Amino acid sequence: MYRLMSNFANVLDITNLNHIKMTKSALQIARAAYQPKLPNVLLGAVKVQLGEATQSVADQEDIQKLFPNTYGMPIIKFEQATTKEEYSPINVGVILSGGQAPGGHNVISGLFDGLKNINDQCKLYGFLMGPGGLVDHKYIEITSDIIDQYRNTGGFDIIGSGRTKLEKQEQFDKGLEILKQLNISALVIIGGDDSNTNACVLAEYYASINAGVQVIGCPKTIDGDLKNDMIETSFGFDTACKVYSEVIGNIQRDCNSARKYWHFIKLMGRSASHIALECALQTQPNICLISEEIEAKNKSLDDIVTYIADIVAKRAAQGNNFGTILIPEGLIEFIPAMKKLIAELNDLLATNSEFAMIKKSAQREWIISKLSADNAAIYASLPEGVARQLTLDRDPHGNVQVSLIETEKLLSEMVATKLDEWKKEGKFCGKFAAQHHFFGYEGRCAAPSNYDADYCYSLGYTAATLISAGKTGYMSSVRNTTAPAAEWVAGGVPITMMMNMERRHGEMKPVIQKALVRLDAAPFKAFAAIREELALNTEYVYPGPIQYFGPTEVCDQPTKTLQLEQAK
Ligand code: FBP
Repeated sequence: MYRLMSNFANVLDITNLNHIKMTKSALQIARAAYQPKLPNVLLGAVKVQLGEATQSVADQEDIQKLFPNTYGMPIIKFEQATTKEEYSPINVGVILSGGQAPGGHNVISGLFDGLKNINDQCKLYGFLMGPGGLVDHKYIEITSDIIDQYRNTGGFDIIGSGRTKLEKQEQFDKGLEILKQLNISALVIIGGDDSNTNACVLAEYYASINAGVQVIGCPKTIDGDLKNDMIETSFGFDTACKVYSEVIGNIQRDCNSARKYWHFIKLMGRSASHIALECALQTQPNICLISEEIEAKNKSLDDIVTYIADIVAKRAAQGNNFGTILIPEGLIEFIPAMKKLIAELNDLLATNSEFAMIKKSAQREWIISKLSADNAAIYASLPEGVARQLTLDRDPHGNVQVSLIETEKLLSEMVATKLDEWKKEGKFCGKFAAQHHFFGYEGRCAAPSNYDADYCYSLGYTAATLISAGKTGYMSSVRNTTAPAAEWVAGGVPITMMMNMERRHGEMKPVIQKALVRLDAAPFKAFAAIREELALNTEYVYPGPIQYFGPTEVCDQPTKTLQLEQAK
């Protein structure tokens, strides 16, 4: 059963992670029997086909210098072989890193089954509560009793997740102590762009000291911003977008029934607007803002407010005092003028400790008096609540925590003010009442869709196959996923291939390039082509809840984003 393997393990963590006795829903019980599909190529004996040597996406010289042992490795594709090789048993560790994403448990199930297929004496250890578990030596052995409780379920609770960054040599060395103690020769890190960057640094370090530990990454994040030619999508994006689209659809039906509210719906996604865009493609709201477009067109906050108010006024003129607006979580950081204001505020507050002593009622005036003219004008135009959030909520690095800013309320308040002005001028003659929503955590731990259940299981199985092939510094890659699973392509991509140099905390660092929404790519173009029509007409789509059992066109559709990107 559930075995506590470390003297150092934190008893509280373990108690919280012990879900063996949890009461299961009917769906959970039925879903446990689902056998995720694997690409045909992984079903029997497998051989490795090596591609050409690779280059990083940019800054090749710098990246090569920093990763002398793992740079330039070829892309790997698995192919069916005729004879199965014999492997000695190995011990492997796994870490879940960062925000939850549906399907994490299936990556671990696929990894577990893949290892047992290599040799049934292989063991899998899970480090607890994220990368911190490796450094602090907190772990469990993941046995078949445990894994069977978590197959096809949402969440990361099998071992927990955390945001400790693995970036310092002391951490790597501390981690190596426990890996050696447990005789672990490979580590799988399931995470987003930053965690996989760290996985690559760790792989390089362990290779440089001949530690005898391989490191393999798996692409996770609901934000959908870890993708490139070789990684079609990050897992969890499919399920999370389907959950949000279900509730957006429900709101739209309510909206179209009552016809009295404008719903301002903020959607998770720290930087990129992939989630908002995908939900817009699935539900056809009246408005969807795309941060990347706003930045590219150098739009001001007032431009955005005017754009929304104009659509509200036009719909009102048709007698439609209702509508839906999707807003990406990271919007504020993409409005060039707001970015400048935030940067000046950061400096101002960091260098003026007396600010905290100023009476709350006088703080706004004090800030306006200190800012440069342009920024002062923008700051003065902000509603009281948001102006306060911009000055109070700082993270440990002294930056504004933009995710805490209620952009949906900021926009609706500013739209209301603009419409009041237009009313006086006779430009608006309708009614405007707003409702606000934020969808994020609702979708991150949902039971994985069939797509994510299969994709994640295949990613985990592929990671096991990369380990058996002796590889390190690779990310598990499963491609061609808009085709039936049997035809999926499985292999590995050198993580260095996805890297470039970026400034982080004042220093140039090698990082995996984040994939933002591309304005020249098919998903954005498809939305842009219909958005004017969606703004004025009411063409809502109601996707309904994710279906796990039933006709394939209902249960197995990949995201619209992926379908558009992969369309030949
Ligand atoms: P990852 O990139 O680690 O997968 O997390 C993404 C995310 O879900 C964002 O969409 C969101 O802004 C953030 O995590 C929230 O973080 P937290 O879970 O720490 O509140």
